[in-house]
Amino acid sequence: MTKYTEPKYRTIFDAKENELEQLREKSANSPWKPAFHIHPQYGLINDPNGLAYFNGEFHVFYQWYPFDAMHGMKHWAHAKSKDLVNWERLPVALVPVEDYESHGAYSGASLEVHGKLYMYYTGNIKYGPVERSANQNLAIMDKQGNITKYENNPLIEGVPEGYTGHVRDPKVFARDGRYYMLLGAQRTDLTGAIIVYESDNAIDWTFKGELDLKIQFPEDVYMLECPDFFELNGKDVIVVSPQGLKPEGHDYHNIYNVIYVLGKLDLDSLTFEVDHYQELEKGFDFYAPQTFAGKNNERLLFAWAGMGEIDYPSDEEKWAHCLSIPRELDIVSGKLVQKPAQELKQLRKSAKAGEVILEKAGSVEVGSAGQYELELELSDIDADSFGVILFASENEGLVLEFDRSRQTVSLNREKFEAAFGGEYGFVRSSELKIHDKVKVQVFTDRSIAEVFINDGEVVFTARVFPKEESKGIKIFANGKLRCKYEKHELAQGISF
Ligand code: FRU
Repeated sequence: MTKYTEPKYRTIFDAKENELEQLREKSANSPWKPAFHIHPQYGLINDPNGLAYFNGEFHVFYQWYPFDAMHGMKHWAHAKSKDLVNWERLPVALVPVEDYESHGAYSGASLEVHGKLYMYYTGNIKYGPVERSANQNLAIMDKQGNITKYENNPLIEGVPEGYTGHVRDPKVFARDGRYYMLLGAQRTDLTGAIIVYESDNAIDWTFKGELDLKIQFPEDVYMLECPDFFELNGKDVIVVSPQGLKPEGHDYHNIYNVIYVLGKLDLDSLTFEVDHYQELEKGFDFYAPQTFAGKNNERLLFAWAGMGEIDYPSDEEKWAHCLSIPRELDIVSGKLVQKPAQELKQLRKSAKAGEVILEKAGSVEVGSAGQYELELELSDIDADSFGVILFASENEGLVLEFDRSRQTVSLNREKFEAAFGGEYGFVRSSELKIHDKVKVQVFTDRSIAEVFINDGEVVFTARVFPKEESKGIKIFANGKLRCKYEKHELAQGISF
């Protein structure tokens, strides 16, 4: 059969002379390039892949299309770090040149096996604009950092009966001496599922069946992408990205959303007893997260801080998206919480701390910067509406607002000249029990803010594309409020 082709299915090896240099130059001076978030020098990135702390270093791979701010032939790009904050860009890790990955090296996860890093990934196969299949493949990285595709790829050819060509994003883990692979899948009736393979040696896989998640997804859910699995504080946790969820109250307002499920996984019966599940993040730009064990076996997460099918202002500069900061997960009162990883403290430069008191309705500026960490403690609250405006200037601002009478918190990114994504709403919100005090921790980095409320109880990620002068931090209230703040400017952790 002749190979289905489209201009977007070419690899970095097919780059024309100087094409990559030109792409790089085009966006090198963009004021929107994040300084400590992993981002592409050019092209589009999406899911984090193959995350690992391996042989004393952190490895982050991620989906990358080099030639434009669009989805095309996906490669695995690669960065590594000794400390989780200073990243070295490495040569692209996987270039899809083989027949078993003819239309892209799609997402997957890694696992250390016999002292090597086994990187499982999906070979995307297209027969036409719509018809497709998928293979599950392996690449192996040794301790010297050499990456080799497994000679007998694919490990799993095609998809099992009962599923469409949408089967992808392997997550492999070991339990009780056996290996298991979870895959996101679409049933032939066009509903989403997670399927399971098992193996004795992490190489030869047999199809075991479908995981009964015991969650009644609406029938609109047509695909489950990027399943992740881990154990935390004695619980089993699945994080997955369902496609097709419709907005419900404060939930699922993005085109694609992410949920987590806490409970108990039984691999014999392929059932998952659910204690609790909910949307993982309340922001605009958060998808396909993946977790891994850090230095001290803590559970760390990176996500794609972006969303499919929306044009971003940086597209014109031929680059798009970044990853989230690394976050540490915990279970508190039966819920999964996300906190900025401890390691991020290493980025702190100058510090400024203080306290402001608003006696009546108004606002006060507490600083200005482009990339910083900000901690706020809001107390003595005698106001219904209060909060903080980030990236503030006369005409712009990202507004985090607490509403005490409704017991909600919201984030509004409408007020920017380069506002975008409005067809899906400019506001995201969550319920929040607002008592006497509210804690807010924010990381901003030139075109992104990640907001952690009450130690990770509610988290919002938002990309915004401010003008150069929009760097203010403003506290506001429609009544009385005391605000203690501590601000750290943050160093650069990755080259532009
Ligand atoms: C999620 C996803 C994955 C797929 C990858 C392709 O964003 O669609 O399911 O493997 O992106 O880039």
